[in-house]
Amino acid sequence: MSISLKDKIGIVGAGAMGSGIAQVAATAGHNVAVYDSNKEALVKAEKGLKSILSRLVEKGRLSENESAQLFDRIKWVSSLEALSESSLIIEAIVERIDIKKEVFSTLENIVNKECILASNTSSLSIASIASACKINSRVIGIHFFNPAPLMPLVEIIPGITTQNGLADKMLDLMRTWGKMPVLVKDTPGFIVNRVARPFYGEALRIHEESWLGIPDGEAGFATIDWAMKEIGGFKMGPFELMDYIGNDVNYAVTESVFAAFYFDARYRPSITQRRYSEAGWLGRKSGRGYYDYTESASKKEALKDEVIGRKIVNRIVSMLINEAVNAVYLKIASPADLELAMTKGVNYPKGLLEWGKEMGFDHVLKELNFLQEEYVEDRYRPSPLLRKWAKMGVDVEW
Ligand SMILES: NC(=O)c1ccc[n+]([C@@H]2O[C@H](COP(=O)([O-])OP(=O)(O)OC[C@H]3O[C@@H](n4cnc5c(N)ncnc54)[C@H](O)[C@@H]3O)[C@@H](O)[C@H]2O)c1
Repeated sequence: MSISLKDKIGIVGAGAMGSGIAQVAATAGHNVAVYDSNKEALVKAEKGLKSILSRLVEKGRLSENESAQLFDRIKWVSSLEALSESSLIIEAIVERIDIKKEVFSTLENIVNKECILASNTSSLSIASIASACKINSRVIGIHFFNPAPLMPLVEIIPGITTQNGLADKMLDLMRTWGKMPVLVKDTPGFIVNRVARPFYGEALRIHEESWLGIPDGEAGFATIDWAMKEIGGFKMGPFELMDYIGNDVNYAVTESVFAAFYFDARYRPSITQRRYSEAGWLGRKSGRGYYDYTESASKKEALKDEVIGRKIVNRIVSMLINEAVNAVYLKIASPADLELAMTKGVNYPKGLLEWGKEMGFDHVLKELNFLQEEYVEDRYRPSPLLRKWAKMGVDVEW
């Protein structure tokens, strides 16, 4: 049975993600109940949504009437029992496996047998969350991106115990909610948080080494950001983006992916980022990160050298392409979904596989071989599929 507009949606957690997902579901036409264990979070979320909706009305994107109806479709509730009639519950609480498991096992005693239980986790295993439930076949990952109402990508993650067909149902449902869903294996970081790691990690390495004489400190961050934007075509440079996401958040994701891959050197976090995070230089939200966001701060100029810039882009993009090719090799997602995830989830200028073909997979392999030889580190090992595609040249198809 698929989910229709008559079905009620429950949300657990009224933070940044839960309130955004509630808005998405209500916009699609569902009645939604949002529960949070913290009453203040509920009040804040309700107020937040009200101001978002009035801005949409001001901009003419919603009529007064539509906004009022949408708002009325969402109930902010202070007991989990109020979610008992839901056909689908999406959990978006704190990223802790013990707390998530407790919520899932409690939910099972409240809802009917058919209710689908989903988690918006960014890094935890769906198999592990599902193990808290007697009917573990009803548990699935539905991973939205922040801010949920604006970001089109949603990763759908069936765990190994998830019943056949449930992922397809959720893919369909997300399409009816106006999203672009992709199907991903239950593996650390899913697609985006795995494949994007070198965007940050390799930029940090280049900076730590003062590679090619790139200046230390802010001028170095600015140089790498300049290269990635001006030459690479990315909307934001790695350091700007880490400052935007928050160094604490970005570092925590890297550490968790690193640990989940049994400390594979490919995903090793950076001590520089750890120190920035420890110092409270979290980025925009704390007024200071890699850049100084205080009003009086003077901007450090990037070293705008085309040759150095190209080398920076070549190194980081080659690492990203290797990661994407390896994800295809390990069947983490279909090539088409991988391309969609990186362009729609993190706004990359092109899909990484397409980019690899354009650069030539032999050229990407050459760059990785050079780095591996230079550093003698497993971090730079090329994917077996990259080696195969490098030999195939222009005939590579996926
Ligand atoms: N913020 C992001 O960029 C982002 C993106 C995708 C996924 N996620 C994932 O979404 C989830 C929520 O993230 P967030 O950024 O919205 O966090 P948040 O801190 O903004 O909100 C979490 C909310 O959960 C509530 N909560 C905590 N324990 C609870 C419990 N036992 N029962 C009910 N409510 C409880 C808190 O009171 C809080 O309001 C996490 O799993 C996170 O990994 C976050």
